[in-house]
Amino acid sequence: MSGHGHHGDGGGHGHGAHGAGGHRHGQGHGDHAPGRDRHGNPEDLAAYLAKLEGADRAAWQKPDAVVEALRLPDGGVACDAGAGPGYFSLRMARAVGPRGRVYAIDVEPRMIALLRERARDAGVDNVHPLLSTDGAPALPPEPCDAILVVNTFHHFHDGAADLRRLASRLKPGGRLVNVDFQPGELPVGPPPDHKVSREDFLAAAHQAGLELAEEHAFLPYQYFLSLRRAG
Ligand SMILES: C[S@@+](CC[C@H](N)C(=O)[O-])C[C@H]1O[C@@H](n2cnc3c(N)ncnc32)[C@H](O)[C@@H]1O
Repeated sequence: MSGHGHHGDGGGHGHGAHGAGGHRHGQGHGDHAPGRDRHGNPEDLAAYLAKLEGADRAAWQKPDAVVEALRLPDGGVACDAGAGPGYFSLRMARAVGPRGRVYAIDVEPRMIALLRERARDAGVDNVHPLLSTDGAPALPPEPCDAILVVNTFHHFHDGAADLRRLASRLKPGGRLVNVDFQPGELPVGPPPDHKVSREDFLAAAHQAGLELAEEHAFLPYQYFLSLRRAG
């Protein structure tokens, strides 16, 4: 095991399960980094899942506080964009309750399969997994109170365009929330050159017709930005 290996996107304290990429793996790059598939995910799925779902993640990811900060209404509609195996989707499903719905979007069929399995095992039946295909990225089929993007924006191939498309599925007054890693070396998260800074994210959001509505600082390694449609 390398002494300075980089970390999976989802965090966890393991080292070096995959190669350190020489560049960010989304945002318009046609090729992909060593050790990563074309969606920017580490090729070692088992190690990746261990990081995304590891018990130690909750200490810094504070998933319940993140979902609480979304202020989802009972019976509301939410979307988890880049849902992975459903770390947030399942919690959002509980927050909106049985009368609500959560659309969980991912581009990786194996993640969608796992998400179905996790939802079934948890007895959650209001999560609706949607597979994005490269040609026609999935969008939630109905307007949402909140769209959550966690540790995923840097995977998007055209950040501003993808944000604009997602934002078109917000209800009036709905929020798009982005949670992502702060710059530099951290004990968790992707290597520094895979990250998108708060400022770069906000620039893409502005291009997408979004404006900052609220920001939270309760996460030790990540920024939390809540955006609404401008104007
Ligand atoms: C680092 S994981 C984060 C998963 C989840 N949000 C979490 O915090 O546990 C990033 C996820 O985004 C998915 N992804 C990558 N590009 C995507 C895209 N263009 N549209 C939707 N999902 C995408 C990946 O397959 C992966 O499951």
